[in-house]
Parts: sequence; C-alpha cells; structure tokens
Amino acid sequence: MKKGKVEKKIVSSSLSLALLSLIPFCECFNYSQALSQSLLYFESQRSGRLPYNQRVTWRHHSALTDGIQQGVDLVGGYYDAGDNVKFGLPMAFTVTLLSWGVIQYGQQIDAAGEYAHALDAIKWGTDYFIKAHTQPNLLWVQVGDGDTDHYCWQRPEDMTTSRRAYKVDANKPGSDVAGETAAALAAASIVFRRTNPRYSQLLLHHAKQLFEFADKYRGKYDDSVGVAKGYYGSVSGYMDELLWGAVWLYRATQKDDYLKYFLENANDFGGTTWAITEFSWDVKYVGVQIISSMYRSKAEHYLCACLNLNNATNVGRTPGGLLYVRQWNNMQYVATASFLLTLYSDHLLATHQRLHCQKGVVGPHEMFAFAKSQVDYILGSNPMGMSYLVGSGPNFPERVHHRGASIESFRENKGFIGCTQGYDNWYGRAEPNPNVLVGALVGGPDIEDQFKDERRNYIQTEACTYNTAALVAVFARLHQSQSPFIASS
Ligand SMILES: *[C@@H]1O[C@H](CO)[C@@H](O)[C@H](O)[C@H]1NC(C)=O
Ligand SMILES: *[C@@H]1O[C@H](CO)[C@@H](O)[C@H](O)[C@H]1NC(C)=O
Repeated sequence: MKKGKVEKKIVSSSLSLALLSLIPFCECFNYSQALSQSLLYFESQRSGRLPYNQRVTWRHHSALTDGIQQGVDLVGGYYDAGDNVKFGLPMAFTVTLLSWGVIQYGQQIDAAGEYAHALDAIKWGTDYFIKAHTQPNLLWVQVGDGDTDHYCWQRPEDMTTSRRAYKVDANKPGSDVAGETAAALAAASIVFRRTNPRYSQLLLHHAKQLFEFADKYRGKYDDSVGVAKGYYGSVSGYMDELLWGAVWLYRATQKDDYLKYFLENANDFGGTTWAITEFSWDVKYVGVQIISSMYRSKAEHYLCACLNLNNATNVGRTPGGLLYVRQWNNMQYVATASFLLTLYSDHLLATHQRLHCQKGVVGPHEMFAFAKSQVDYILGSNPMGMSYLVGSGPNFPERVHHRGASIESFRENKGFIGCTQGYDNWYGRAEPNPNVLVGALVGGPDIEDQFKDERRNYIQTEACTYNTAALVAVFARLHQSQSPFIASS
C-alpha cells in the first residue's frame, strides 16, 4: 500500500527511472524505531549528574568532579565513544550535526514523536559548552586524556583515571575547536529560538564570543592541547571551522558581518579550491559548500563523488554497495554522506533542480534513493545481514567496544570495578555485552563487507557520538517517506 504511493510520486516526477530501478526500494525497515533508538544512544553517552527522566537505566551519575582541579565546573557533556574522555572538537561537531538535523527536519522528527528527545540531546551538549566557556577568550576543550583512559577498562561510574581538564585561550589558541563550538551554539540557538527564546539568546551570545576568539587568536588546538593530538588532531587545520562558524552565525543572526567575513575569506581559506570527498569532525568544507550557494560547484563535486558520477575522484564502495572512505570507523563517513545527500535531495526537490555530474544527471528522487540505500545497508541490507545500528533488527553487534556497556551495570553491581579488573573480567569475555548500547552506530564492516563482532576489534565495533548524530534527521526523513499522510501534508 505504502509502496504504491511512493512509486506514483516517482512516476509523476518524470525523472530518470532507469537509474532508480537499479536501487531496490525495500520497505522492511522501521525508521521511526531507528530514530527513537538513535536519540536514546545520547543518553548512554551522558556524563555528569543524570536527570530523573533518564531512560537508559544501566547508566548512573559519573565524573561529578570534572574540572575541580582546575577550579571550574565541567560536570556534564558527552563521553565521546567507547572510552570516557570528553573530547571537545568531536562533541561540538556532534551537536552541530544534531542541530542542523533538527533545523532541516524538525517537522519530521516531531511527527515521529521524538522532538523533545532531540532537543534534550542537543541541550545536554550545549549546557556543557556554556559551562566550558568561562571567559570570552577561554574555552575548556577536553577532560581526561586518551592515554591514561585507554590504560583502564572501567565504567564511567567508577573512573579512577585522570580527569584533568584542558583549555585553549589567547596564549594557547584553538581556532578549530572554538570555531566548531561557535557553530554548534549558533546552530542550536536556531533550534531553541521558538521553544526557549532566552536560552537561544544565551547560546547565540556564547557563539558570537567564541567565534571572535577563534578568529582573533589563531592556531590549531592540538598545538595548544598536546593530549588531543593522537586522538582528535586537527589535520585539516582551522580554516574550515572558521568558515563553518561564520556560516552558522550568519544563519543564526542574518548579520551581514558574518556573510562578509565568509565571502572575504572563502578563497584564502581554501574552501573554494578544495574538491573534497569527506565530511567529518575534522573536515567541514563540504558542509560550508552545501550551505552556501556560491560554493555549489564544489559541493557538487562531493555529492557526485558519493554517487560515483565524477570522471576521476569518487568515493569508493564495498562490493555490497557501502560508501567506503577508510578502515577505521568508516560508518562516520557513510552517516554524514547520507545526511548531506538527503538534505541536498530535498533542496533539489524544492527548487526543481537536478544535479549535473560529469557522468550523468541526477534528480532528487535518485539522490534520496541512494541515501536510503546507505541507511538500509546500515540497518541490515548487507552481505553480513547485520544491523550496524545497535539494538535494531534481529542481528546486531553484541560486543561493542564500549566500557560502560561491556561491564555489568552500576544498578546491578554497585561494587567498585578497578582499572585493570575491567580488562581482566570484562573486556576479554566472549559473551555479549551485559548492556545493549541501543542506537549506537559502530565503525562497521571492512572494504569487503566483512565484520567481526569482537570487543577488541575497536576499528569496527566502537561507536562515536557523531556517527549516530548524522543519522537522526535521515531516519526522520525516511520515516516520513514511508508515511503517506505525513508526506502529503
Ligand atoms: C516501528 O517500531 C515502533 C516502536 O518503536 C512500533 O511502535 C511500530 O509499530 C513499528 N512499526 C512497524 C510498521 O512495525
Ligand atoms: C568526463 O568524461 C567525459 C567522457 O569520457 C568527457 O566527455 C568529459 O569532458 C569529462 N569531463 C571532465 C570535466 O573531465
């Protein structure tokens, strides 16, 4: 029944049916459930004092003294992945993605009954960024460090690892992390404008200051905060985040200053000359290109690369059809590509355009169908028959590389579990994790679509907050496409 509706819409659009028919339209996945699960995941990653309405009950309060050694309250925020470090750069990117998704697809998220949860997920991050931004030119950008954290396998509730906090300031700048945090806060200020105008103003105030700080005191944050280097080093530099911050501040304020900044610097900062094939916590150029129309030709390069329609530079694919950028946590690139393709397909639809690539012309429905094919692969339409979204479908990774999920919950066992005790008793077990990390998107299969569900296989079984963040809105959009009543309203 639903299928008929979808097909009718496609016929009436008179777009290239030939290409579309190559992509199977399977309606076997429950996208509304995937959406709910994706937002639940952010509750698993919460650091700090958990609220009364916390739904993930295998987690408990943790890291309640973060920042105390440095005399600052840094309680809250998100643990990044399977470890218990709070990394500022990917955390901010996560919040930018979530906010962007709500800005574009808030209606669809609302229709699926998940709007309040989406806002909660954003606010858990933005509340923390406000705390971390203690002075106009000072931002706390990390708590804990990868080296000491990785030495232990402990629940966040038991942590005995270093919780030292690290900052950037005028002497030790970090334009990338400050720029991304400005982008996150500016985007979130748009999200909260209607429901919480005072909070929205506060977010915007911090965003403006942080952008100024990022621009005035220029430098890569991993030169200032050495412990970030081996984990979230800023390889692409800070120019992309400065443009990204300006673009989001322009969207949030409509002030010409930000547009002017963007237009004046776009060329020098590399945004117009880089033909890039990834969008990630490190590299934001494509995001900038997609939002700003003057960059369209470069944005097209990225989109065409995802669709395999550039003459030379395309994104690789596995035999099973999954976009493949690199081995370690490849799913992050699949998730961001699915988001941007979905976004752009709706842009094409609204403006009655098609995308002109070197090897062909693509209409909005084909582009959306391709994004859907990637999400369906994630949810189980793949050679392993595995859903890489934890908790979804009959078959999903059960040994996610995640400290909290792999150890008996604090609710079940309030006894202290020490640093190496976790490795000895929990890490090496062959059994599934005692707690299901619902909604986590793991690193995913290798270039041959193969996947080993083993805890030590962190390249494939670890999940990161920005993986799932990119998919929230896509699930909502796919759910809408399944629901004829919502789609026609
Ligand atoms: C999808 O999952 C939700 C639970 O999240 C459930 O209520 C709904 O009935 C499911 N839809 C279908 C079509 O199975
Ligand atoms: C791409 O390839 C086609 C066919 O081989 C050729 O006609 C076209 O000029 C190429 N475009 C670019 C930009 O190289």
